[in-house]
Amino acid sequence: MTTTPKAEDARTALADGNQIPQLGLGVWQVPDGPTTVNAVRWALELGYRHIDTAQVYGNEQSVGRALRESGIAREQVFVTTKFNPSRKDAAAELERSLRRLGTDYVDLYLVHWPQGGATRAWSGMQRARELGYARSIGVSNFGLRELDQVFAAGPVPPVVDQVQFSPFEYRRALVEGAQLRNVVVEAYSPLGTGRHLSNQTVRRIATSIGRTPAQVLLRWSLQLGLVVIPKSTHRERIAENAQIFDFSLSDQDTAALDALDRTNATGRAHERPWW
Ligand code: A2P
Repeated sequence: MTTTPKAEDARTALADGNQIPQLGLGVWQVPDGPTTVNAVRWALELGYRHIDTAQVYGNEQSVGRALRESGIAREQVFVTTKFNPSRKDAAAELERSLRRLGTDYVDLYLVHWPQGGATRAWSGMQRARELGYARSIGVSNFGLRELDQVFAAGPVPPVVDQVQFSPFEYRRALVEGAQLRNVVVEAYSPLGTGRHLSNQTVRRIATSIGRTPAQVLLRWSLQLGLVVIPKSTHRERIAENAQIFDFSLSDQDTAALDALDRTNATGRAHERPWW
Protein backbone atom coordinates (compact mmCIF):
# COMPACT_ATOMS: atom_id res chain seq x y z
CA MET A 1 0.00 0.00 0.00
CA THR A 2 1.27 3.48 -0.80
CA THR A 3 0.52 6.38 1.48
CA THR A 4 0.31 9.99 0.41
CA PRO A 5 2.85 12.16 2.25
CA LYS A 6 1.01 14.64 4.43
CA ALA A 7 1.62 18.35 4.74
CA GLU A 8 2.42 18.11 8.44
CA ASP A 9 5.19 15.55 7.90
CA ALA A 10 7.42 17.61 5.62
CA ARG A 11 9.81 19.75 7.64
CA THR A 12 13.09 21.57 7.12
CA ALA A 13 15.77 22.04 9.77
CA LEU A 14 16.66 25.59 10.75
CA ALA A 15 20.22 26.56 11.68
CA ASP A 16 19.24 27.04 15.33
CA GLY A 17 18.08 23.42 15.66
CA ASN A 18 14.33 24.09 15.29
CA GLN A 19 12.24 22.71 12.44
CA ILE A 20 9.85 24.47 10.09
CA PRO A 21 7.01 22.81 8.12
CA GLN A 22 7.63 23.23 4.39
CA LEU A 23 4.05 24.26 3.74
CA GLY A 24 2.24 27.05 5.56
CA LEU A 25 -0.91 29.07 5.12
CA GLY A 26 -0.20 32.75 4.48
CA VAL A 27 -2.84 35.23 5.62
CA TRP A 28 -1.60 38.45 4.02
CA GLN A 29 -4.60 40.53 2.90
CA VAL A 30 -7.06 38.24 4.65
CA PRO A 31 -9.46 40.42 6.68
CA ASP A 32 -9.60 40.02 10.44
CA GLY A 33 -12.73 38.22 11.61
CA PRO A 34 -14.55 35.20 10.16
CA THR A 35 -12.57 35.13 6.89
CA THR A 36 -9.26 34.64 8.70
CA VAL A 37 -10.76 32.36 11.36
CA ASN A 38 -12.24 30.10 8.67
CA ALA A 39 -9.12 30.00 6.48
CA VAL A 40 -6.91 29.04 9.44
CA ARG A 41 -9.47 26.55 10.76
CA TRP A 42 -9.75 24.82 7.38
CA ALA A 43 -5.99 24.74 6.91
CA LEU A 44 -5.52 23.08 10.30
CA GLU A 45 -8.30 20.57 9.55
CA LEU A 46 -6.61 19.77 6.25
CA GLY A 47 -3.25 19.02 7.85
CA TYR A 48 -1.40 22.34 7.67
CA ARG A 49 0.74 22.90 10.77
CA HIS A 50 2.18 26.30 9.89
CA ILE A 51 0.44 29.68 9.84
CA ASP A 52 2.15 32.88 8.69
CA THR A 53 0.80 36.22 9.88
CA ALA A 54 2.24 39.67 10.69
CA GLN A 55 1.56 42.69 12.84
CA VAL A 56 0.70 44.79 9.78
CA TYR A 57 -1.84 42.24 8.50
CA GLY A 58 -4.11 43.17 11.41
CA ASN A 59 -5.45 39.61 11.77
CA GLU A 60 -3.37 38.08 14.59
CA GLN A 61 -6.40 37.97 16.86
CA SER A 62 -8.36 35.83 14.40
CA VAL A 63 -5.36 33.56 13.79
CA GLY A 64 -5.15 33.03 17.56
CA ARG A 65 -8.83 32.33 17.84
CA ALA A 66 -8.75 29.70 15.09
CA LEU A 67 -5.69 28.07 16.70
CA ARG A 68 -7.39 27.78 20.08
CA GLU A 69 -10.68 26.57 18.59
CA SER A 70 -8.91 23.89 16.54
CA GLY A 71 -8.11 21.97 19.72
CA ILE A 72 -4.69 21.11 18.28
CA ALA A 73 -1.91 21.38 20.87
CA ARG A 74 0.02 24.65 20.59
CA GLU A 75 3.36 22.90 20.13
CA GLN A 76 2.01 21.05 17.08
CA VAL A 77 1.54 24.26 15.08
CA PHE A 78 4.32 26.51 13.80
CA VAL A 79 3.25 30.15 14.11
CA THR A 80 5.09 33.05 12.47
CA THR A 81 4.52 36.74 12.97
CA LYS A 82 6.53 39.73 11.80
CA PHE A 83 7.76 42.93 13.43
CA ASN A 84 6.31 46.09 11.94
CA PRO A 85 9.59 47.98 11.46
CA SER A 86 7.91 51.37 11.53
CA ARG A 87 7.58 50.72 15.26
CA LYS A 88 10.39 51.20 17.77
CA ASP A 89 11.09 48.02 19.66
CA ALA A 90 10.74 44.50 18.30
CA ALA A 91 10.53 42.80 21.71
CA ALA A 92 7.82 45.15 23.02
CA GLU A 93 5.81 44.74 19.81
CA LEU A 94 6.04 40.95 20.03
CA GLU A 95 4.62 41.08 23.55
CA ARG A 96 1.59 42.82 22.06
CA SER A 97 1.37 40.26 19.24
CA LEU A 98 1.41 37.44 21.77
CA ARG A 99 -1.51 39.01 23.60
CA ARG A 100 -3.46 39.28 20.32
CA LEU A 101 -2.56 35.71 19.35
CA GLY A 102 -3.33 34.42 22.83
CA THR A 103 -0.14 32.40 23.01
CA ASP A 104 3.06 32.49 25.09
CA TYR A 105 5.48 32.35 22.18
CA VAL A 106 5.75 32.32 18.40
CA ASP A 107 7.86 29.80 16.56
CA LEU A 108 9.30 32.41 14.23
CA TYR A 109 9.54 36.21 14.41
CA LEU A 110 10.71 38.11 11.33
CA VAL A 111 11.72 41.71 10.70
CA HIS A 112 9.07 42.48 8.07
CA TRP A 113 11.30 44.71 5.90
CA PRO A 114 14.64 46.49 6.38
CA GLN A 115 13.24 49.92 7.27
CA GLY A 116 15.81 52.25 8.81
CA GLY A 117 18.63 49.91 7.73
CA ALA A 118 19.17 46.16 7.83
CA THR A 119 20.30 46.00 11.46
CA ARG A 120 18.09 48.58 13.19
CA ALA A 121 15.65 46.00 14.61
CA TRP A 122 18.09 43.20 15.26
CA SER A 123 18.96 43.79 18.93
CA GLY A 124 15.23 43.88 19.78
CA MET A 125 14.72 40.68 17.80
CA GLN A 126 17.47 38.95 19.76
CA ARG A 127 15.98 40.19 23.01
CA ALA A 128 12.58 38.76 21.98
CA ARG A 129 14.29 35.41 21.52
CA GLU A 130 16.18 35.60 24.83
CA LEU A 131 12.92 36.38 26.62
CA GLY A 132 11.40 33.22 25.13
CA TYR A 133 8.81 35.12 23.10
CA ALA A 134 10.18 33.68 19.85
CA ARG A 135 11.82 30.29 19.27
CA SER A 136 13.54 31.44 16.09
CA ILE A 137 14.25 34.83 14.55
CA GLY A 138 14.80 35.94 10.98
CA VAL A 139 14.07 38.55 8.36
CA SER A 140 11.81 39.22 5.39
CA ASN A 141 12.39 41.25 2.23
CA PHE A 142 16.15 41.25 2.87
CA GLY A 143 18.56 40.85 -0.05
CA LEU A 144 21.96 39.18 0.26
CA ARG A 145 23.72 42.43 1.11
CA GLU A 146 21.26 43.12 3.95
CA LEU A 147 21.50 39.54 5.19
CA ASP A 148 25.25 39.94 5.50
CA GLN A 149 24.81 43.13 7.51
CA VAL A 150 22.64 41.24 9.99
CA PHE A 151 25.19 38.43 10.21
CA ALA A 152 27.88 41.03 10.92
CA ALA A 153 25.73 42.63 13.63
CA GLY A 154 25.17 39.29 15.40
CA PRO A 155 25.66 37.55 17.65
CA VAL A 156 22.53 35.51 16.82
CA PRO A 157 22.21 35.00 13.04
CA PRO A 158 18.87 35.06 11.18
CA VAL A 159 17.68 31.55 10.29
CA VAL A 160 15.01 32.54 7.72
CA ASP A 161 14.60 35.10 4.95
CA GLN A 162 11.05 35.34 3.62
CA VAL A 163 10.90 36.90 0.16
CA GLN A 164 8.61 37.26 -2.84
CA PHE A 165 9.45 34.19 -4.89
CA SER A 166 8.13 32.21 -7.86
CA PRO A 167 9.46 31.12 -11.27
CA PHE A 168 8.81 34.70 -12.43
CA GLU A 169 10.62 36.09 -9.38
CA TYR A 170 13.39 33.50 -9.35
CA ARG A 171 15.95 35.26 -7.15
CA ARG A 172 18.57 32.65 -7.81
CA ALA A 173 21.58 34.50 -6.34
CA LEU A 174 19.57 35.27 -3.21
CA VAL A 175 18.45 31.66 -2.73
CA GLU A 176 21.90 30.23 -3.39
CA GLY A 177 23.57 32.80 -1.15
CA ALA A 178 21.07 32.26 1.64
CA GLN A 179 21.52 28.50 1.47
CA LEU A 180 25.30 28.93 1.70
CA ARG A 181 24.72 30.96 4.87
CA ASN A 182 22.39 28.30 6.28
CA VAL A 183 19.37 30.59 5.98
CA VAL A 184 16.11 28.93 4.92
CA VAL A 185 14.25 30.93 2.28
CA GLU A 186 10.49 31.16 2.48
CA ALA A 187 8.51 32.00 -0.68
CA TYR A 188 5.74 34.51 -0.20
CA SER A 189 3.32 35.16 -3.08
CA PRO A 190 4.44 31.82 -4.61
CA LEU A 191 1.44 32.06 -6.97
CA GLY A 192 2.22 35.68 -7.85
CA THR A 193 -0.86 36.64 -5.75
CA GLY A 194 -2.78 34.52 -8.27
CA ARG A 195 -1.43 36.23 -11.41
CA HIS A 196 0.92 33.40 -12.42
CA LEU A 197 -1.80 30.74 -12.43
CA SER A 198 -2.92 31.66 -15.95
CA ASN A 199 0.56 31.63 -17.51
CA GLN A 200 0.70 29.39 -20.61
CA THR A 201 3.84 27.49 -19.60
CA VAL A 202 2.53 26.82 -16.12
CA ARG A 203 -0.83 25.66 -17.51
CA ARG A 204 0.77 23.45 -20.15
CA ILE A 205 2.93 21.66 -17.57
CA ALA A 206 -0.03 21.28 -15.20
CA THR A 207 -2.19 19.71 -17.91
CA SER A 208 0.58 17.38 -19.05
CA ILE A 209 1.13 15.93 -15.56
CA GLY A 210 -2.48 16.01 -14.35
CA ARG A 211 -1.91 18.64 -11.67
CA THR A 212 -3.17 22.20 -11.20
CA PRO A 213 -1.19 25.39 -11.99
CA ALA A 214 -1.02 26.20 -8.26
CA GLN A 215 0.45 22.78 -7.47
CA VAL A 216 3.06 23.17 -10.24
CA LEU A 217 4.19 26.58 -8.94
CA LEU A 218 4.36 25.42 -5.31
CA ARG A 219 6.18 22.20 -6.18
CA TRP A 220 8.78 24.18 -8.16
CA SER A 221 9.62 26.25 -5.06
CA LEU A 222 9.68 23.16 -2.82
CA GLN A 223 12.12 21.38 -5.14
CA LEU A 224 14.51 24.32 -4.75
CA GLY A 225 14.47 23.74 -1.00
CA LEU A 226 12.16 26.61 -0.11
CA VAL A 227 9.30 26.78 2.35
CA VAL A 228 6.03 27.92 0.67
CA ILE A 229 3.17 29.89 2.22
CA PRO A 230 0.36 30.20 -0.37
CA LYS A 231 -2.65 32.27 0.65
CA SER A 232 -6.24 31.25 0.04
CA THR A 233 -9.57 31.89 1.71
CA HIS A 234 -11.27 28.96 -0.06
CA ARG A 235 -11.35 25.54 1.54
CA GLU A 236 -10.96 23.61 -1.71
CA ARG A 237 -7.97 25.71 -2.77
CA ILE A 238 -6.34 25.37 0.66
CA ALA A 239 -6.73 21.60 0.20
CA GLU A 240 -5.40 21.70 -3.37
CA ASN A 241 -2.32 23.69 -2.33
CA ALA A 242 -1.38 21.00 0.20
CA GLN A 243 -1.26 18.22 -2.41
CA ILE A 244 2.32 18.90 -3.41
CA PHE A 245 4.26 16.17 -1.63
CA ASP A 246 3.23 13.23 -3.81
CA PHE A 247 4.76 14.18 -7.16
CA SER A 248 7.91 15.67 -8.68
CA LEU A 249 8.55 17.96 -11.61
CA SER A 250 10.84 16.53 -14.29
CA ASP A 251 14.14 18.22 -15.16
CA GLN A 252 12.57 19.38 -18.43
CA ASP A 253 9.53 20.96 -16.76
CA THR A 254 11.75 22.52 -14.08
CA ALA A 255 13.96 24.08 -16.78
CA ALA A 256 10.90 25.51 -18.57
CA LEU A 257 9.75 27.09 -15.29
CA ASP A 258 13.27 28.35 -14.48
CA ALA A 259 13.25 30.19 -17.81
CA LEU A 260 10.27 32.33 -16.73
CA ASP A 261 12.50 34.39 -14.41
CA ARG A 262 12.17 38.15 -14.81
CA THR A 263 14.60 39.14 -12.06
CA ASN A 264 17.76 38.21 -13.93
CA ALA A 265 18.69 35.78 -11.12
CA THR A 266 19.01 38.65 -8.68
CA GLY A 267 20.41 38.59 -5.15
CA ARG A 268 18.01 41.37 -4.22
CA ALA A 269 14.75 40.78 -2.41
CA HIS A 270 12.87 43.46 -4.32
CA GLU A 271 12.86 45.26 -7.63
CA ARG A 272 11.16 48.32 -6.14
CA PRO A 273 11.36 48.56 -2.34
CA TRP A 274 8.28 50.29 -0.89
CA TRP A 275 9.92 51.54 2.30
P1 A2P B 1 -8.43 33.16 -2.79
O1 A2P B 1 -7.83 33.66 -1.51
O2 A2P B 1 -9.66 33.91 -3.20
O3 A2P B 1 -8.61 31.68 -2.82
P2 A2P B 1 -0.24 34.02 -3.35
O4 A2P B 1 -0.18 32.89 -2.41
O5 A2P B 1 0.80 34.01 -4.43
O6 A2P B 1 -0.30 35.36 -2.66
O7 A2P B 1 -1.64 33.89 -4.14
C1 A2P B 1 -2.86 34.10 -3.51
C2 A2P B 1 -3.95 34.35 -4.52
O8 A2P B 1 -4.14 33.18 -5.33
C3 A2P B 1 -5.27 34.65 -3.86
O9 A2P B 1 -5.93 35.60 -4.68
C4 A2P B 1 -6.00 33.30 -3.89
O10 A2P B 1 -7.40 33.51 -3.99
C5 A2P B 1 -5.46 32.65 -5.14
N1 A2P B 1 -5.31 31.19 -4.99
C6 A2P B 1 -4.69 30.53 -3.99
N2 A2P B 1 -4.68 29.21 -4.22
C7 A2P B 1 -5.31 29.03 -5.40
C8 A2P B 1 -5.63 27.87 -6.17
N3 A2P B 1 -5.27 26.67 -5.76
N4 A2P B 1 -6.30 28.05 -7.34
C9 A2P B 1 -6.64 29.29 -7.76
N5 A2P B 1 -6.38 30.42 -7.08
C10 A2P B 1 -5.70 30.29 -5.90
